Amino acid sequence: MKLFSLACSVNGHKVRREILSARSLLEFIREDLGLKGTKEGCGEGECGACMVLVDGLAVNACLMMAVQLHGRDLVTIEGIKGKAGGLHPLQKTFMAEGAVQCGFCTPGLIIASEALLRRKPKATLEDIKLELTGNLCRCTGYEKIISAVAKARGK
Ligand code: FES
Ligand code: FES
Repeated sequence: MKLFSLACSVNGHKVRREILSARSLLEFIREDLGLKGTKEGCGEGECGACMVLVDGLAVNACLMMAVQLHGRDLVTIEGIKGKAGGLHPLQKTFMAEGAVQCGFCTPGLIIASEALLRRKPKATLEDIKLELTGNLCRCTGYEKIISAVAKARGK
């Protein structure tokens, strides 16, 4: 068993852990850090349920090794907050638009949408649809999700 000394930032806090070098980022987040908001769906990069921000970019945590996080900045859904520490604008618009049913896909969708709106605050509907093609939802039919992201632009 090979151990690796991982130092990174998690939701704004410095973290240092000895981890198994074969650990996926998703295992590290859910099992080592106990942050269960990041979901495991397919486990192979198809569904987007495991999306997190690494240095501000949305990545599928099931496809990244935890050791690759060394020296970098991780934000999980638990770290997505509004300016005053309350709900983030995307969380508010997802609720207002009824864009959440079972909720399994929601953390990944919020992360993907946040990555897009940080990069492109005036994203078009086409930009939003394109960005969310990597996030599967079995419940909502996507229209309310797209509308929720559109309403969060500029907030
Ligand atoms: Fe990672 Fe599905 S669990 S993409
Ligand atoms: Fe159920 Fe999206 S709300 S999978």
